[in-house]
Amino acid sequence: MQIIESINEMQAHSVSLRHQGKLISFVPTMGFLHEGHLSLFEVAKEESDVTVASIFVNPAQFGPNEDFDQYPRSVEKDLELCRQRGVDIVFLPKKEELYPTGYSTYVCEESLSQPLCGVSRPSFFKGVCTVVAKLFNIVRPDVAVFGQKDAQQAAVIRKMVQDLHFPVEIRVAPIVREADGLAMSSRNSYLNEFQRRDAVRIYQALCKGKELYDNGNRNVDRILAEIIHHISECRRLRVIYVSAVDKDTMKPITRTMVEGQTLIACAVWCDEVRLIDNLIL
Ligand code: PAJ
Repeated sequence: MQIIESINEMQAHSVSLRHQGKLISFVPTMGFLHEGHLSLFEVAKEESDVTVASIFVNPAQFGPNEDFDQYPRSVEKDLELCRQRGVDIVFLPKKEELYPTGYSTYVCEESLSQPLCGVSRPSFFKGVCTVVAKLFNIVRPDVAVFGQKDAQQAAVIRKMVQDLHFPVEIRVAPIVREADGLAMSSRNSYLNEFQRRDAVRIYQALCKGKELYDNGNRNVDRILAEIIHHISECRRLRVIYVSAVDKDTMKPITRTMVEGQTLIACAVWCDEVRLIDNLIL
């Protein structure tokens, strides 16, 4: 496995691989890897000759009062996991090279990024789109793999790729969960034993909503109310949003729910830890 830190070297290497006719797949991450990330590597490997993963905690996607400094980091362990899971190249850019002093160019998607997480994290998707666009220009992948865990992020990236004509195919892999149902996330490491026990309620609440739907209920408000009620029964949990949107456009679902097209997405504070989850009805 190759580890590349320099932007020029990564770009030159990708160009040379492309000249050799190799298909490149790419999995961008912020590290502290878990099975969710590793499942993306599996999809990526199936899709290509060479799999590239990046590890970079992107300051541009953290708000001023968010957890950039505390965000968990474990590069050595991550590299070992990448090695074990057959990643060919890990790109480890330096903050100073990606965002040198005087850096001033950003990519903003202005529609899908507005609702849901866009309300409480107003510059988050600008930071994500900017870093992903930069990484696409450096890694030059044919295919890039994202997780359904961050459903809005995947939809926003798809839109950016379409709008800016990036020659990259986007794949989205299913959510990997802990045995009790909690969606895996690097931020789960912030949870103490009691918070961890209560956090599972978020997925259980989404499942209660799905149960109503599966029993024939098509009233969106009723389904959302049930989910909010179940989460709020736990005093540690506070709902930031629970919404039903079209899974591709992120537009709110008001009346008819088309099978397989409704994304129920939520963000919840578990004490001071912000968690997100979703499922498709
Ligand atoms: P990060 O949170 O490290 O996630 C990297 C990728 O792993 C994302 O596509 C995310 O959706 C996926 N992922 C995380 N948890 C998952 C789970 N439980 N199941 C399936 N996939 C999961 O998302 C980011 O980093 C950043 O915003 C990034 C795209 C790297 C830009 O900085």
